[in-house]
Parts: sequence; structure tokens; C-alpha cells
Amino acid sequence: MSYFHIPVLLNEVIKITDPQKNENLVDGTLGGGGHSKAILEKTGPKGKLLGMDLDPEALRAARDNLKKFEKRIILKRENFTDFSRVVEKYDFHPIDIVLLDLGISSYQLDEDVLGISFLKNQPLDMRIGGELENYDNRITATEILNKWPEEKIKEVIKDYGEERYARAIAKNIVVERKIKKIELTGRLVEIIEKSVPASYKSRRQRIHFATRTFQALRIAVNRELDNLKNALPQILEELSPGGRMAVISFHSLEDRIVKQFFVRESKDCVCDSEVPVCVCHHKARLKILTKKPITPSEEEVEKNPRARSGKLRVAEKVHKVKSL
Ligand SMILES: C[S@@+](CC[C@H](N)C(=O)[O-])C[C@H]1O[C@@H](n2cnc3c(N)ncnc32)[C@H](O)[C@@H]1O
Repeated sequence: MSYFHIPVLLNEVIKITDPQKNENLVDGTLGGGGHSKAILEKTGPKGKLLGMDLDPEALRAARDNLKKFEKRIILKRENFTDFSRVVEKYDFHPIDIVLLDLGISSYQLDEDVLGISFLKNQPLDMRIGGELENYDNRITATEILNKWPEEKIKEVIKDYGEERYARAIAKNIVVERKIKKIELTGRLVEIIEKSVPASYKSRRQRIHFATRTFQALRIAVNRELDNLKNALPQILEELSPGGRMAVISFHSLEDRIVKQFFVRESKDCVCDSEVPVCVCHHKARLKILTKKPITPSEEEVEKNPRARSGKLRVAEKVHKVKSL
């Protein structure tokens, strides 16, 4: 099966980041290179791309998709959580545009990442791109399910999955793992099935009853929220003045992290409201270009239902930080 993924909010990304001739792009979540391709079309003749992804399959697909830009691109298997280290390693400066299109591609969900889909019976691994050779401190979903205390499993399922039956699911996971180690997706689906009411399993529900728990485990395994929190300040640091950073998120917690970061970095003072005179001397380094997050049009969601929860936020690095 060849790689497939429809880039989300593509026109909106192009419109707001407004790529110019010869500008350089870092795509921290390259995927099949859909967004990168549209930006490279605008940044010729010399604008370069540093594209990173954890998944070798995505890199292979992107290399194919971006063939005509061969001389202008560097594609590497790297984690955007180490943004500064990666751009230094490939000596990639100046940086005019950075894009993070978070989460996973359709191909990864349907075909590629072991144990991420509840529709197939597979080992509960869930590490995007599999094990990385040089550095990888991720644990698998199997380890989480069989080793973590019930309370911590409940929190993951509740917070990352926004699953209202998180308590019952976590309780049954702990009961079942004492009987036999939980290793396969099929067994986890059975446990979830036992933990939720019949109405929740009805075909009339918008999503499958296991969706939220599987999403929560994937986020925990891949440390998706920590990666984002780590990356944002590094991106701001590396971006050239006038450069734009764009983030597409698919989860309310991710969107909140981006929003809070943008808001803080666009303020001249971040002192507590009770402090009468500024003592923090914080200076605005970003100008927010999207007051509210941009969401996909009805037309886009109709064509690509997976775009449904996408939210785009973009900010520009200010040219000069005003001195005191
Ligand atoms: C939604 S897809 C990106 C799709 C892409 N914008 C396109 O147009 O095809 C997200 C990609 O980010 C990758 N990814 C997720 N977390 C990552 C991380 N921490 N570092 C690098 N790549 C990551 C996934 O492997 C996946 O290919």
C-alpha cells in the first residue's frame, strides 16, 4: 500500500505564512511532504527545506513527492523535540518559516504504526516510526498497560483521550493484566468493551468506543505534549526576525499549549496581575497572526473527515525587541 495523506488546512497555511522567494522552511512533521511541497513551490529558486520525521516510511514518501526540488531539500529522521540540535547539526540557517502539523498521518493510522489502530490485531507498540536507533527513551503501550499504576493509566486515558469512562477502563486493565499480560490491540478492545455501557458502543456513536483510549495511549507513548512544549521555545529562538511559526494541532491540550505560548511571548510583561510595577522585564518576541485558531471549512471536512478537529495558529517573530 503506498503512502497516503491529505494535508490539512493547506490553503490557510500558505495564505497566513505567505512564503516568499528564497525563504527557508523547517517542516518538523514532514509526513508525505504535502505542506512542504506547496511552500517550496513559492520559495524558489533558492529557498531550502529541512524536513524531519520520525518515520522512515514518511521520509521515503516525501522524497518521492518532492523529487523535483531535490537540490533544495534535506530530509532527515529526527525528532522535532530537539529542534535546535537538529538545525545546528545540518547548519540550517536562516529559518523563515517553521511548520508543525502534529499527530500522525492517515497512512500511519491505517497501515504503518504498530498497534495504533484498533481495527487490526497487533502488538501494542504505538511508537511512531518504530524504535529509533541512536536515541529513544520511549516505552511501548504494552509497558504502560502492564506496568503503570491504575491511577496513572486512568489519568492518561482521561486527560489525553478525554474519555469519560477512563476510571472503569483503567480498573479493568489492572484486573485483566493480573490474569494475563495485555499485549495485543484486540485484547485491549475487549477490555474497553467490557468497561463502557451499551449505548456507548452503538453504531450511532460518531466514533468507535475504543478511539479515545487508543489516542490517549499513542500520545503518552510518543510524549507528544512534551515534544511540543520542548519545541516551541527552541523554534522561537532559531527563527529569523520576521519569520513565521505555524502549528496545526488536533487535540485541545495541544492547542492550549500553543495558545498559551503565543500569548506569553507576545506580551511585554508577564508579571502577576497583583504586581504594581513590572519586575519581569519580559519583552514581546512574537506577533500573533491568528487571533482565533483557523479551522477547516465545511467543504474540507466533507472531503477529508480527518481534518475535522484541526486548528491552525500562526505567529511572527518580531523584528526588534524594544529595549527598556
Ligand atoms: C499529520 S502528519 C504530517 C503530514 C504532512 N504535513 C503532510 O502534508 O503530509 C504528522 C507527521 O509528524 C511525524 N511526527 C510525529 N511526531 C514527531 C516528532 N516528535 N518528530 C518528528 N516527526 C514527528 C509523524 O510521523 C507524521 O509523519
